[in-house]
Amino acid sequence: MTRLQINGQARDVDVPGETPLLWTLRDELGMTGTKFGCGMALCGACTVHMDGTAIRSCVTPVSAAAGHAIATVEGMAADPVGRVVQQAWIENNVAQCGYCQAGQIMAAVGLLKTTPAPTGEQIDEAMSGNICRCGTYPRIRAAVRQAASRLVRGGK
Ligand code: FES
Ligand code: FES
Repeated sequence: MTRLQINGQARDVDVPGETPLLWTLRDELGMTGTKFGCGMALCGACTVHMDGTAIRSCVTPVSAAAGHAIATVEGMAADPVGRVVQQAWIENNVAQCGYCQAGQIMAAVGLLKTTPAPTGEQIDEAMSGNICRCGTYPRIRAAVRQAASRLVRGGK
């Protein structure tokens, strides 16, 4: 049995330790907001946070997640930075098919938690590992910029 801390809640899972965190979230815990894309740490669809840092859950064994604070897109509505980012995503109509967007949001929240006023280059760098087949990159950047400026003004 492995005890995970997900979005502030303890969750026990009975899976082999090498099981990827992604499949533990989706198949064992029914948290399907985190998406499977490449399975090889190349696309960012599976991005979650571990102790506040964006990680690829497809290549993170569940044993490595035990004892760490995991955050997923399901927890972002209750997160002060996540809420602002999600609102900016809505206002900028970022999503097209939507498949990559949970990972994009998690990457953006991870950036803004460590770098509240990022430069364009910092945004590009932080988001560069998240692929969008629909090509929503300009709207993603606009939303990250809007969220950053709101956060600098205290979320307004
Ligand atoms: S599914 Fe994990 S990076 Fe693509
Ligand atoms: S919105 Fe379709 S893959 Fe990004």
